[in-house]
Formats: sequence, structure tokens, C-alpha cells
Amino acid sequence: MEIIKTIKELALLLASYRQEGRQIAFVPTMGALHEGHLSLVRQAAGLGGITVCSIFVNPTQFNDPEDLKKYPRPLEQDIALLESVDCDVLFLPEVGEMYGVEKDSGAKENGWGAQEADWKIDLGTLDQVLEGKERPGHFRGVTQIVYKLFEAVKPDWAIFGQKDLQQFLVIQSMIDQKQLSVKLIMGETVREPEGLAMSSRNVRLSPLGRKQALVLFQTLREVKILIPEWVAGRISLQEIRKKAATRLQQAEGVRLEYFALCNRDSLLDADEDTPPEKLVALVAAWVDGVRLIDNVVL
Ligand code: PAJ
Repeated sequence: MEIIKTIKELALLLASYRQEGRQIAFVPTMGALHEGHLSLVRQAAGLGGITVCSIFVNPTQFNDPEDLKKYPRPLEQDIALLESVDCDVLFLPEVGEMYGVEKDSGAKENGWGAQEADWKIDLGTLDQVLEGKERPGHFRGVTQIVYKLFEAVKPDWAIFGQKDLQQFLVIQSMIDQKQLSVKLIMGETVREPEGLAMSSRNVRLSPLGRKQALVLFQTLREVKILIPEWVAGRISLQEIRKKAATRLQQAEGVRLEYFALCNRDSLLDADEDTPPEKLVALVAAWVDGVRLIDNVVL
């Protein structure tokens, strides 16, 4: 695997691959890799082109400076994991390479705020619900960096996980608005054996917190089981929402941020006319001071 730190070197290397007629599949990450990330890299490799992964802990998408500071960065381990799944190229830029200034703390007062103002994107209601609502500026930061990464890699395909469904929809919206030629592919959510969705932040959970966090997926699964009841007219979506929220609110060690039943394309609240195959249940909650999100397409 080639490890590249600058956009210029990356462009040169990828241009040579492209001249050989190879296509490029790209998996952007923030590192602290786990099986969820690796499944995306395998999926990318399965497309038969050159597989590029990036590791960049993007300061502009962290609305909580503590979260940025605490974000795990096990680089040696990440490199070994990427080698093990036959990744061809790792793009590993410094903050200055992506934002033109040296900066490694999340403080928006440190200078790159000015650059952020240059970034124009209108995500409409997608940025006003769920993660967009709870984490102001988050998707602005995500789209800004993914656009820069797409410009650097110029991928034919980009693979993103369903774990961050709203992020996936936001990136698709950006691709449409900016008329980029990259094809977006969704990778399934990879879970721990007991059901907890894998996340780089899970390492910050205590053994007890890990057990307490299981209620997120358990609730999503129970909601899924209730959908045929809803289709048969025996329960309303409002009743399902209430049941799920109550279960999560009563769970020990869990602080619920939101539970939502939405249309999977718009992420607006589903109503009784939403086709069942369009339904998705999404949850965000805090356990052990760690913010966890998960979703299940119903
Ligand atoms: P990160 O959280 O590192 O996630 C990188 C990719 O891995 C995302 O597409 C995410 O949806 C996917 N992923 C995370 N956990 C997963 C799981 N359990 N199963 C399957 N896929 C999973 O998402 C980001 O980084 C950043 O916002 C980024 C897009 C890199 C921009 O900075």
C-alpha cells in the first residue's frame, strides 16, 4: 500500500493509474478503523479498480472540541488493517494540506473559519432534522471536506456506510448540486455480535456502557417487528414512536437525544401514507458520555 500525504503526489500517482485505464474506488474515513470501515474497503476493492482510503480527522465537522480532542488516532494499527484488506493507496493529509492552515484543535476561532465561509452548499431540510438539527454546522463541515477529498482523488465510486444514513443522503445531495461524476455506493452497517453498531467512538465505552448501549439496536429491531402490525392497521406510527421512545428513555445509563420514524429518502417524519418500504427508524443517544447513532431500514 502506498501512503501519500500531499494532494500533489496523490494526483500524480492516481493519474498514472488512470492512464492504465484503471478506475478508482474511494473510502473516506477519520481512522480508528474497525470492521465497518474495512467492509467498505473490501466492497471498494471488489469493484476491481484501484482502492483509495483516506484517514483525516476533519476538524470542521466537530461541533464539540472535546470530541475532537478525544477522537482516537491509532495510526499504526490502521495502516496494518488497511494492508490486510488490500487497500492500494492511503491518503493521509495533515490539516494544513486540506485547509491551507496549521490547525489541529476544533476551535473555530483559530483561522479556518474564514475559509469555511467560502463553502457554499444548500442542504435544505436534510440539514435541519436529526443530526443536522442536533449538530449545527456538522454537515457543512462534512460536505466541505468530502468535496475537497473528491477533488483530490477524483473517484469513479465512493463508498459510504448506512450507519450514517443522513451523511449518505447529504453527500448524494452535494454530488447532485455540484454535478460531480462520482457514483455513490452504500455499505451495510456492521455490528458487534450482540448488535451494537460498530463505531470508532465505541472504544470510549466502559464494559457496562457497552451492555447498556445494546438497547439502541434492540429497540430498532422491536420497531421493525411492529411494522407489519402497522401495515395491518393495528397500531399507528405515533404509538410505535411512543413505545420506542419510552423504552429508550427508561433504559439505564442511556440519555435519549432522538428517536425518529422517517421517510428514508427525505428523513422527514413518516406519516400514515408513507409506503412501508420507505420507512427508516433512527436513534441518537448518549451512553458513558459517548454519543451513539444507529438506524434500521424497516
Ligand atoms: P468515519 O466515522 O470514520 O466513517 C467513515 C465511513 O465508515 C462512513 O461512510 C461511515 O458511514 C462508515 N461506517 C462507520 N461505522 C460503520 C459501520 N458500523 N458499518 C458500516 N460502515 C460504517 O463518516 C466519517 O468518518 C466522516 O464524516 C467522513 C465521511 C470521513 C468525512 O470526514
